[in-house]
Amino acid sequence: MRKQPGWALPNLKEAQKRTKNEVLIEKSIFQISPEMKQLGVGRNYYLRTYGCQANERDGETIAGILEALQFTQVDTPEQADFILLNTCAVRKNAEDKVLGELGSLKRLRKNNPDLLFGMCGCMAQEEEIVNTLLEKYPHVDLIFGTHNIHRLPELLYQAMMSREKTIEVFSKEGEIIENLPVKRFGSHKAWVNIMYGCDKFCTYCIVPYTRGKERSRSMEDILDEIRSLKQENYKEVTLLGQNVNSYGKDLQLEGGFARLLEEVAKIGMERIRFTTSHPWDFTDEMVDIIAKYDNIMPFIHLPVQSGDNDILKTMGRRYTIEEYKQLFDKINQKVKNCAFSTDIIVGFPNETEEQFQRTLDIVDYCQYDNAFTFIYSPREGTPAARMEDNVPFEVKQERLARLNEKANYYAHLKNENYRGKIVKVIVDGPSKKNKDVFSGYTETNKLVNFTAQDVVAGDIIMVEITDVKTWSLNGIQVKK
Ligand code: 5AD
Ligand code: SF4
Repeated sequence: MRKQPGWALPNLKEAQKRTKNEVLIEKSIFQISPEMKQLGVGRNYYLRTYGCQANERDGETIAGILEALQFTQVDTPEQADFILLNTCAVRKNAEDKVLGELGSLKRLRKNNPDLLFGMCGCMAQEEEIVNTLLEKYPHVDLIFGTHNIHRLPELLYQAMMSREKTIEVFSKEGEIIENLPVKRFGSHKAWVNIMYGCDKFCTYCIVPYTRGKERSRSMEDILDEIRSLKQENYKEVTLLGQNVNSYGKDLQLEGGFARLLEEVAKIGMERIRFTTSHPWDFTDEMVDIIAKYDNIMPFIHLPVQSGDNDILKTMGRRYTIEEYKQLFDKINQKVKNCAFSTDIIVGFPNETEEQFQRTLDIVDYCQYDNAFTFIYSPREGTPAARMEDNVPFEVKQERLARLNEKANYYAHLKNENYRGKIVKVIVDGPSKKNKDVFSGYTETNKLVNFTAQDVVAGDIIMVEITDVKTWSLNGIQVKK
């Protein structure tokens, strides 16, 4: 399909650029004009979100906007008048899933000719993907990116009224918009964005291109949001950023993330979590604050990616494995009973067996509670995608299997420490199968299935662990 006037298409070269321009924080830019206020009356939407927590949180904003337009959320695409896929681009298999879904959903238009298809999120930021959509998925009516979610009312209005394909993707980040509606999916746990974008440019990663440069929200806006959440009886917040340790650097905020974390802790929210922390700029002040406050949970996601210094260097990770171990030890010593999770990539271009062995060694050293493991996936426009690669795919698969075996062993071993112990659990809700069985999470982020009476989501209760599995614990409520 030829480019139409009025479209704003993604542009990789633009996305690669960084400017020092100050980012405006806009508090009043989001408005719904009168002609759009009824847009969703009598219409249903189905929203499916893929990928990381940043995307999940965007999904909450999108749902908030759609409901401000009076759309009603439904659980199945068959019931919908507007199907929107909020997508992830971090690996090719995530993209393939979305494209498969888009292909199979097309059939629904036969019964509902007015059905509207939309795609947003990180895949929409990719030049290559939008070209594929134009060529092979002509049924997609609306495409918008991660930087213009606030434009959804206008874009949807245009797509619905004109019945013409509408595309608006900004490759460069815009201002931070503070007054967007939100439909939170949880009633006692909430995600709070503290910053957007990423400037780390790890050589394998597409995120800096799909989410723009690092921009921090103002500390006051974040604290106000958390104070309101506390008033609304939320019990847990997770502070979100691609690298939360960078928080405030762009604002020249003294104290940075450590200071923010302390201010959040003082608000008195029962549980505070944060993700993700890059090992490179994890400061001593941060470790001290985590150790000092009981309401900052002793659970750190600390992506290592590889155990080999040459691979780490080629990945652009900015730390050596010795520095990583030092940081890990420091946190372990200062933060009581701290649990750790990590991300690991196997089969980075030209990874040798010895280099992979060093990745197994770091898993032996850290004995992670949980490891998210991936086969390297080349991403268009990233430096690593241009590297020659002599590792056959079968070798990568076999390394992944060996790594998973080790990671699972430690996940189970760590859980064994809980057998017979009494732990604090936040109740998420009853299990679908049995209403006397509930699930929830420990402070160290372990999933627990337990029997209990008279508990509701958001309660924090004591549970005795009676059995352990690799990915969860079983227990019974202990009455005080
Ligand atoms: N291939 C495989 N894994 C990747 N990740 C990011 N980019 C890639 C890629 N191109 C992994 C990293 C990161 C996690 C969110 O996804 O481990 O920490
Ligand atoms: Fe990607 Fe690295 Fe930024 Fe994480 S820190 S989002 S891996 S570029």
